[in-house]
Amino acid sequence: MNSALTKPTIGTPDEIDVRLAAAEAKGVIRLKRITTRLGAEVEGVDLKNALTPAQIAVVYDALLRHKVLVFKKIGLNHEQQVRFTYELSEASPNIGAPTIGHTVFGHVDNFPEIFSVYQGEKSKPRNMERYEASAATHPWTGYHCDITACVNPPSIGMLRGAIIPQGAGDTNFGNLAAAYDTLDEPTRKQVETLWAEHEYKFGKTRGSEAGDSIASRRMVSHHPLVTVHPDTGEKILYNSPGFLKFVVGMSESDSTELLHRIWKHSVEYTIQHVWDEGDLVVWDERSTTHRAPTDIYSSGTERQLYRTTLVGQPLHGLNGDASRIVEGEPMLSCEEELASQMHVGRTGTSVTGNGFSSAFPEPG
Ligand SMILES: [Fe+2]
Repeated sequence: MNSALTKPTIGTPDEIDVRLAAAEAKGVIRLKRITTRLGAEVEGVDLKNALTPAQIAVVYDALLRHKVLVFKKIGLNHEQQVRFTYELSEASPNIGAPTIGHTVFGHVDNFPEIFSVYQGEKSKPRNMERYEASAATHPWTGYHCDITACVNPPSIGMLRGAIIPQGAGDTNFGNLAAAYDTLDEPTRKQVETLWAEHEYKFGKTRGSEAGDSIASRRMVSHHPLVTVHPDTGEKILYNSPGFLKFVVGMSESDSTELLHRIWKHSVEYTIQHVWDEGDLVVWDERSTTHRAPTDIYSSGTERQLYRTTLVGQPLHGLNGDASRIVEGEPMLSCEEELASQMHVGRTGTSVTGNGFSSAFPEPG
């Protein structure tokens, strides 16, 4: 693939804008932007019932264009969330089927596509103090794209709010296309040919259920630092601080200096989602980053979300080279994962699945 020669599969952002304007004029969807750069609240599409192909296409257009979609207080159940996740998987050849709830941590009972994201005092990670100390001086702490240690990280993630406390538990999202577009010219030139190593690390979770799950599905991959979005052709500053360990071929000090600079820059393009019960938030994993809250643990409250995820592809750099496996296996669809029995023995579901890996909260 050469980005200069290859047409985006779905359309450029400008082309998508024209389609969305037409769809809004026809009353197929209503979109309210959250900020000029990122996010839209969606109305007019009833996710409780099966969508038509035209509705699926317009929702996917909106997702590509705004990167984070918020469906406020729609109150889906497990079946409806799973149905919508499968529907969305048909929207582009560049997205795959739903994954098992979580490729590393498994799934909830009876719903293999759903992962439980629970936070409460009882699930407080052991390394929370270290995490908070890091976050105080490094504002990018905790931001990540999901499971980028895998050669084909998720293409789309979604979370549904089931138990939502007041005054705590917001999720932040960042726009990595905007992060690329606004880089200073020398840094942009520098990063365009660089690659980075992403790893799912044990950290302080070694020896715990979560640590054992990570060990049983160990993954290390190399991804370009600048990727081309396969559906839109946008250039993305693909950085996932939670998983990204170093820039390949650079000295440790040069790598750290560069990464801290681009991570600090990237968190300037973020939004904060304040949850209500019944919200469904859908994000494009290929062009955004996100950060889970940590204020639940000391608030005396609890928070329950449910996540579904779509398989992605290896990413492509500007010269067309694709992500490479250093260790581990690609992410599989839920069906493939169940058939392979790879998830058996990974007991870190539900509460322990929300464990912190290294020094960041993984789920959302
Ligand atoms: Fe996450």
